[in-house]
This record gives sequence, structure tokens and C-alpha cells, in this order.
Amino acid sequence: MWLSLEDYLKKINSDSEKYYEFNENILKVTTEILPLNFKEIFNNENKILKFEIGFGNGDSLIKLALQNPEINYFGIDRKMDRIRTALSKLNNKEKISNLQIARFGTDYLLSMIPENSFHEIIMNFPDPWPKKKHHKNRTVNDEFIAVIHKLLKNDGIFRFSSDHVDYSFQVIDLFNRTELFKNIYHPAHYRTEVNNRIETQFEKHKKREGFTIHHMKYLKV
Ligand SMILES: C[S@@+](CC[C@H](N)C(=O)[O-])C[C@H]1O[C@@H](n2cnc3c(N)ncnc32)[C@H](O)[C@@H]1O
Repeated sequence: MWLSLEDYLKKINSDSEKYYEFNENILKVTTEILPLNFKEIFNNENKILKFEIGFGNGDSLIKLALQNPEINYFGIDRKMDRIRTALSKLNNKEKISNLQIARFGTDYLLSMIPENSFHEIIMNFPDPWPKKKHHKNRTVNDEFIAVIHKLLKNDGIFRFSSDHVDYSFQVIDLFNRTELFKNIYHPAHYRTEVNNRIETQFEKHKKREGFTIHHMKYLKV
């Protein structure tokens, strides 16, 4: 069912309300504060803003924010249980001033976030929708690539990691064909290890099971 942005946000906020009250790291997004003004939201001197889509339990996002106080991190996830888990990690901490999370998905990004906002966009282990008839649900497609191209600043970076071979090669193929991005790992299509990477819980789990991880890195051109 197609919803207007206003109805979508109302729906999301209706069961998230109590979480907004007692945690300052979560942002309640309503149409009144759109498009998001990250200068006001973070209200600090940081010049760099990174965006994680689908942060899951928030483990790596929180670690990134704590390790890099000079960088602002904005993370979204569309599932309430993920927000709840991430908040359970944040509730016994002081507010992390360079971190904001919000509950929403990628469907309305250009109506919510100004163009040229981010230095980096990160996607770790997005749902692979393994069955062929479900591939249309995968987040990364040509339209999504055009959206993130707009949201990134010049020379912005898109990072994508997945253990799923078919989704990884679909992404490689999409980025090979687009003129909007350049593959930083060229001539390789991906790396299986990235120095100084903070692994997500999902990633550790998949590695223990013996899966190869595909890390891709693309530059906005
Ligand atoms: C397999 S989990 C991986 C979580 C985390 N990135 C990790 O590596 O541990 C995928 C996450 O992406 C979220 N997600 C999937 N599609 C999304 C979308 N289009 N917008 C926002 N979040 C999304 C899901 O709710 C889920 O939390």
C-alpha cells in the first residue's frame, strides 16, 4: 500500500513515541522538521557527516561515533525492534553528541534529506531477499543509486558490505554500469578484508559460519 510521506511518518511514530521521550540520541522525524537540518540536529562544530542505512542493533554505528568524535553519524533503520535494541545500548550511556538515529526506511529519502548532505553513506549487510521473486525488494537498484548520488557531497563515498554472493554481484554490476560512481577498489571489484574496519555483529556471525564478505567502495563522480 502506497502511503504519503506524512502518513508514513505518522504510522512509524505511532508505535515509537515512548522511545523518543527518554533518549536524546533518537530523532523523532515529522513533516514539520523536514527537510532535516543536520546543522541544527547535531548543533556542534563537526564538519563531516556520515550516514548509515539499516544499522541493525547499532553496534558498529555506536562504536564508530565513540571512536570518531570529530565526525557526525546519522543512522536509520526501518524496524522498530532494531531501534529498541540500539536504544538499549544507548540508554545507560551519556548522550553521544555526534550520533543521531531515526526510525525510517529509504523510500522517501529525497523528500526528507537535502541533497549534498553526506560525506559517506554506509550499508552493512542489507537484507538480501534471496528468492528470485523477492529481488525487487532489495534496496540497492538503479533508482537508489541515483538517490544516494544526490545525497552525497562531491567526492562522497558509498560503502557496501554483504556476505550474500548474488546481491554483492548484482551491486557490482549496477555500479559497473553507472556513470555516477567510480569503483575505488578497481581493478578488483571487492575486498574481503578492510583495514581498521569495525565489524558488525551480523558480519562476525557470518564470518564464523565461513562466509566470504564482499566489501565495495565507490566514489561519487
Ligand atoms: C541483515 S540486517 C544487518 C544489520 C546491520 N547493518 C549489521 O550488519 O549487523 C539489515 C538491516 O537493515 C534494515 N533495513 C533493511 N532495508 C532497509 C531500508 N530500506 N531502510 C532502512 N533500513 C533497512 C533492517 O531493518 C535490518 O535491521
